Amino acid sequence: MKKKFSKPLITTIGIALLAIGFVACYAPQEEPTDLAATAFIPKPMSVTATAKSFHLNDKTGIEVQNAELEKLGNDLAGKIKAATGLDPVVQVKEESPSYRTIYLSLQPEAELGEEGYQLTIEPERIVLSANRPVGIYYGIQTLLQTLPAPGGPAHPGPFIVPTGTIRDMPRFAYRGVMLDVARHFFSVDEVKQYIDYLAEQKINYLHLHLTDDQGWRIEIKSWPDLTKIGGSLEVGGGPGGFYTQEEFKDLIRYAGDRFITIVPEIDMPGHTNAALASYADLNCDGKARELYTGTEVGFSSLCVPKEITYQFVDDVVREIADLKPGPYFHLGGDESHSTGLPDFIKFVERVRGIVRSHGFIDIGWDETAQTALDDQSIIQLWASADFARKAVEHGTKLIMSPATKTYLDMQYDSLTPLGLHWAAYIEVDQAYEWDPTTLFPGIGAENILGLEFPLWTETVTDLKDLEFMVYPRLLGLSEISWSPKEGRSWAEYKDRLASYIPRLDAQGINYYKSPKVDWPE
Ligand code: ACM
Repeated sequence: MKKKFSKPLITTIGIALLAIGFVACYAPQEEPTDLAATAFIPKPMSVTATAKSFHLNDKTGIEVQNAELEKLGNDLAGKIKAATGLDPVVQVKEESPSYRTIYLSLQPEAELGEEGYQLTIEPERIVLSANRPVGIYYGIQTLLQTLPAPGGPAHPGPFIVPTGTIRDMPRFAYRGVMLDVARHFFSVDEVKQYIDYLAEQKINYLHLHLTDDQGWRIEIKSWPDLTKIGGSLEVGGGPGGFYTQEEFKDLIRYAGDRFITIVPEIDMPGHTNAALASYADLNCDGKARELYTGTEVGFSSLCVPKEITYQFVDDVVREIADLKPGPYFHLGGDESHSTGLPDFIKFVERVRGIVRSHGFIDIGWDETAQTALDDQSIIQLWASADFARKAVEHGTKLIMSPATKTYLDMQYDSLTPLGLHWAAYIEVDQAYEWDPTTLFPGIGAENILGLEFPLWTETVTDLKDLEFMVYPRLLGLSEISWSPKEGRSWAEYKDRLASYIPRLDAQGINYYKSPKVDWPE
């Protein structure tokens, strides 16, 4: 007898077959699902991959735990749109997140510190949590590196994020770059573009070298000729320029929205020809200097014995303090070869008092460690480990900018069309293969506030030049400042760098194609 199936059984089999068919048609194809294989730069502290995937698509929303995070949610939505063309809706949702969302939340977790974050990617949702909004911001930068770079050709998708958990926090509190806007002026829009780049690498300080022999680049209302005369030229005789105070406040705001703090530098008592050309009174002989558009250093000095010098400094520091850039003020102090040492010491000590009287923490180049120091100052090592060692004896913390490793204006090799080589040629591997805690005997992790990567602009005239000198070295340097030292190796990094490069291509960044790296075709 033919076996007869009951009706309910047939229905069940039918549903099962339908379900199998559905899964066969709509289940994702084989896809990249190894979070640990993603070319993150800087490398996170830990990445645990779980071999599944989250699909970012037009159903994906962004939920934020409270209104404080809404701006970051909108930021993320904008970046996702730029990368994928998707347009996720942002909502505040205090309770547990919905299915298929990216959820941003503040969760106390002491171990992750001020700037750390945890990014948990599951097939159902992505949860990004941190103690503070800045940690959320850094987690967003990491998450975005799992998606196509913005600016490239429209990407058809699907947008697949491999699952796993990233726990991350910075190695150093201070991760800076310096831009010399005095030798060649960079417009507000150019500086903003640089700030956007810096944010991707979790840089948190932008030191602006605002004054030098060739130009004074910030409006000081009580001394208007500083910009009218001193801001009028630049190296090579071009038209120069300066930031009005409103523009400078706009830069501070723009950087702050990206968790980057501006560090203003007024370089003194040397590197001051632009000021000395603007006001005759600032010269010991009472005669204004000629404007200077060359690239020599060490020939200028403010007049240390004259009282008006300190009135001038006080006015400048006060007006800059009123713009509220942040906790630090850089008083320069490098290469003051035309100021005798006793005068130099007298000047720096008095100016440090002025800087502090306006509520700032003072930073000085390493020569300023020849003065009476305490543990409140910061010294920036660029040339002299001896001066820096003198500083740490007083408990003074260091910003490490050894010219032989971190100076972004140094040529990569003798063929580099831009840059200088007085400190070194710095190939991409040499900018990566060193560590600030072992470079100089007597200077260790406990003495170091962080790292800074300066770009002096004697030969660098615009944003394309800047990009060529900065990239790709900044990527490796940012990793030294952010990522754990353990396990760091050029052999591993250089492949990750090559995998990261399409992100620079998509953004149209002009970078140096070092022969040390196997570049993608
Ligand atoms: C410097 O490079 N003169 C600090």
